[in-house]
Amino acid sequence: MEVKNCIKPLAALGVTLSLALSGAAFAGEGGKANIVIVATGGTIAGTAASATQTVGYTAAKVGVDRLIEAVPELKKIANVKGEQIFQVASESITDDHWLKLAKRVNALLAKDDVDGIVITHGTDTMEETAYFLNLVVKSKKPVVLTGAMRPSTAMSADGPMNIYNAVTVASSKDAHGKGVLISLNDQIGGARSVTKTNTVSLDTFKSFDQGYLGLIAGGNVFFYNASTRKHTADTEFDVSNLDKLPSVEVVYGSANANMMAANALVKSGVKGIVYAGPGDGSMSKIVNPGMAELRKQGTYIVRSSHAGNGPVARNGEADDDKLDFVVADNLNPQKARILLQLALTKTKDTKQIQRMFYTY
Ligand code: DGL
Repeated sequence: MEVKNCIKPLAALGVTLSLALSGAAFAGEGGKANIVIVATGGTIAGTAASATQTVGYTAAKVGVDRLIEAVPELKKIANVKGEQIFQVASESITDDHWLKLAKRVNALLAKDDVDGIVITHGTDTMEETAYFLNLVVKSKKPVVLTGAMRPSTAMSADGPMNIYNAVTVASSKDAHGKGVLISLNDQIGGARSVTKTNTVSLDTFKSFDQGYLGLIAGGNVFFYNASTRKHTADTEFDVSNLDKLPSVEVVYGSANANMMAANALVKSGVKGIVYAGPGDGSMSKIVNPGMAELRKQGTYIVRSSHAGNGPVARNGEADDDKLDFVVADNLNPQKARILLQLALTKTKDTKQIQRMFYTY
């Protein structure tokens, strides 16, 4: 490397060292973190006809610059830039949106002048986008998703404070290496464990099996917990060269369970099925042999549960070893779908897939 090419990195190193010695946390202007807010849509960007209208509003209308303008206090805690990557209500998020978002997030995090990312997103599928990113982001820098349960036009809209708190978390050195996080309503949840539990209330995100990882109080970030599973920089999954994901769908199990949906899905080309069974991922006397036949024909079958928490035990409600099924551990069905999609980009071996469900 020519001498002149060494000067820039050494200068940056010098700046960083001097800031670290001076106690300034980051190399950004004023020692503040450089945070990029990547906006995707959702209720946080929603509008309604009146300040009291908190349902029946239009999601995904307000752009990222206006979201940032609504929180002028951000300037005191971080150097913030905004990007509008797309503008959708999150029930309409697709694999294409995920691949575009993941590639942009990885490109941003690879830059020395980006210290963390906040993603504003609809709450309906926020946990899924967060878990997908938890499996494909190649950095230990903080990635924090946030949103709102009330539109931006509402009285006591929750979006601005959620954005402020999310930037606070993304600017915290303690958030490094914690995996992708979801922060609303002063709480901090891990992407793998937190899930939306209420259609309308502000404290909708809960994490039953693990609990929250931490919380924000008075502008301070407190972590009390950490994920025990691999994520982000330790992931084996890589989407950088992918332009589509394997087709995997969820089939919901209830009383009168049958194979109509599963057989139709496989006929349409689906590669894997996550069975969201009752209880411990139980399959009825019709579904069990039906799924076994689909497995024999090459479709991958994962037993999950719609109970809400607790693990699906291998060889409990089905002879998984004999039928070559995979169990989802305590991943909910919508997250099990994501992990099976990514697993199928790496292997066709169900033993390897089962390892992945016990690893991530
Ligand atoms: N349409 C829903 C979504 O974008 C609204 C829910 C929300 O963002 O809070 O996820």
